[in-house]
Amino acid sequence: MQMPSLLDAKKRTKDKVKTINYDIDDKYKNLGKNKTYFIKTYGCQMNEHDTENIKAILEQMSFKETDIMENADLILLNTCAIRENAHNKVFGMIGRIKHLKASKPNIITGMCGCMVQEESVANEIKDKYKWLDIVFGTHNISNLPKVLSKSLKNQKQELEVYSIEGDIIENMPAKRDSKYKAWVNIMYGCDKFCTYCIVPYTRGKQRSRTKENIIKEIKELIADGYMEVTLLGQNVNAYGKDLDANYDMSDLLKEAALTGIPRLRFITSHPWDFTDKMIDVIAKYPNIMPYIHLPLQSGSNKILKLMGRRYTKETYIELFNKIKEKIPNCAVTTDIIVGFPGETEEDFNDTLDVVNTCKYDSAFTFIFSPREGTPASKMKDEISLEEKEQRLYKLNDLINKYAKEANDKYLNKVVPVLIEGESEKDKNLLMGYTDTMKLVNVKAPKDKIGQIINVKINSVKTWSMDGVEDKS
Ligand code: 5AD
Ligand code: SF4
Repeated sequence: MQMPSLLDAKKRTKDKVKTINYDIDDKYKNLGKNKTYFIKTYGCQMNEHDTENIKAILEQMSFKETDIMENADLILLNTCAIRENAHNKVFGMIGRIKHLKASKPNIITGMCGCMVQEESVANEIKDKYKWLDIVFGTHNISNLPKVLSKSLKNQKQELEVYSIEGDIIENMPAKRDSKYKAWVNIMYGCDKFCTYCIVPYTRGKQRSRTKENIIKEIKELIADGYMEVTLLGQNVNAYGKDLDANYDMSDLLKEAALTGIPRLRFITSHPWDFTDKMIDVIAKYPNIMPYIHLPLQSGSNKILKLMGRRYTKETYIELFNKIKEKIPNCAVTTDIIVGFPGETEEDFNDTLDVVNTCKYDSAFTFIFSPREGTPASKMKDEISLEEKEQRLYKLNDLINKYAKEANDKYLNKVVPVLIEGESEKDKNLLMGYTDTMKLVNVKAPKDKIGQIINVKINSVKTWSMDGVEDKS
């Protein structure tokens, strides 16, 4: 058993990051023969991509995927720790799985991801959820075959969660969700330690993959017919800072664009590391999509300081204006937290003020959720939940208004859309995203799936648009 420790998770040393080449021992390759697996994923794109790795590892062990949980021989929850409600959802699901296990004791059950990296959660699992067979952390994904094999052999819970700064695991297989769009990790972990955020503790220190490995992966994806790559990291603008190679995110973006991938995206940016050089590269290369997710978190300088964000309302707006000036058609979205400890009505109004200035294309908005072990969880929080909810509603109204206004500008315009598949709302329509990341339901023949086509927009809503293929 290997339990996580909050104290160890907080540590940062100057130790060199190890790169390990993933490989699976032959002795594990039949473990899942004639068995099926079901994985449910919570949280961010990093977690979604981890699930793609986990699926491929399970398939190397001969497991086959099923999307019906009740039929599966192995049920795994890949969890998120970012807010309390993510926690609650997972524990609700665990209740359902317990029921299933009671009627089918032979099924293998497990939990992985950011939640199990929390010391308190791991303790709870060890004491109260002994029936969960396998528990492994974000640093232990490549050990899944060993963890599973040990649990099956010993017929007891196998819990392996390291609280380490983390290695880089290359050559991990991936069973990708899409045939056209792919995630490519460019870095892991985060060293920003924003005072509200648990990610630096659950995902370890900031460590960048080498440009050679990243570019190689993109080229392989192009050869496999992928049309879009999203470079992935908790804080992608800090790419390369740990490699001392005099090669930063703008250099990587440029080299990745030059591979010829039709669409290149990246998430998530921190305003602090967003350089002018990066803006220039995005403006210059037409295959770098004009879409930037730029988390604001708060518009109040007092709250930004308490959050440890290292920028002010003024410098954020300056950066925003620079982006819009140099990349005129660029869509910008954001993340905002309301109800951070000490947030007054005046602070909240500063946030609304930035929203009124930036008129975002859309935003993810959250009520502050104290996470155990983070500095903000110990800050005095005197605002009532009711007040926080009022602020969230008010903010969302404003966000929706600007989202609709941003979409209205597309009416009767012709825009490029990467067609991904059938529309969920109507099987006779297809769906895809514009270069600026707007969801479009499109009338076009099915053989356009996987292609970028021109679409004339004929109707616009707040969160999606409708259009027809434009052949002119
Ligand atoms: N409470 C509320 N929202 C949070 N986020 C991160 N940590 C917290 C927290 N403790 C939000 C931030 C971040 C997004 C991924 O989640 O806005 O950008
Ligand atoms: Fe992703 Fe953050 Fe959730 Fe971890 S805690 S899965 S990094 S959103």
